[in-house]
Amino acid sequence: MKKFAFAALALATLGATAASAGPIEDRQAIMKGFAGPMKEAVALSRGTTPYTPAAAKAAMDPLAQHAETFIGLFPKGTEAGGAVKTGAGPAIWTDASGFKAAGMKFIADTKAAGSAKDQAGFADALKAVQADCGACHKTYRVTAP
Ligand code: HEC
Repeated sequence: MKKFAFAALALATLGATAASAGPIEDRQAIMKGFAGPMKEAVALSRGTTPYTPAAAKAAMDPLAQHAETFIGLFPKGTEAGGAVKTGAGPAIWTDASGFKAAGMKFIADTKAAGSAKDQAGFADALKAVQADCGACHKTYRVTAP
């Protein structure tokens, strides 16, 4: 019994380490992970990769899901200037509701793009998504870490 408890504890600790290095690393990993789906989305919008509604949805879904996690990864004390380098600007904390709204707009726009009717509609919707990346960075991101 004792042995079992120890093994379970060791496993739980290992799991926690693998899942999360810390909120700064996690949120940066999410942002880096946006590159793949966005590249695919641009190819679909141009027809470089044949457009299908399913492929568009598959590119947009992970963005919406991860953005939801992303905006929750900004606990106090993880702003720029701390031990771990981060591009998180002070406005994330001074204007927390604006930051959340920028995240929610991004999520809504990725969902809209993922349910576009055709390639032209998707291309238009994707422009809104790309504008959201830039708009949020402009206000809430300082120079790259
Ligand atoms: C709601 C705000 C918001 C949106 C929307 C957003 N970002 Fe970011 N992004 C940030 C913040 C804040 C950081 C800085 C994170 C840090 O360093 O802790 C960042 C950092 C990054 C980084 C650098 C990650 C690293 O440290 O290596 C990349 C790349 C990036 N974003 C790409 C994108 C792309 C592409 C999109 C759109 C598809 C996007 N972002 C949408 C807020 C946002």
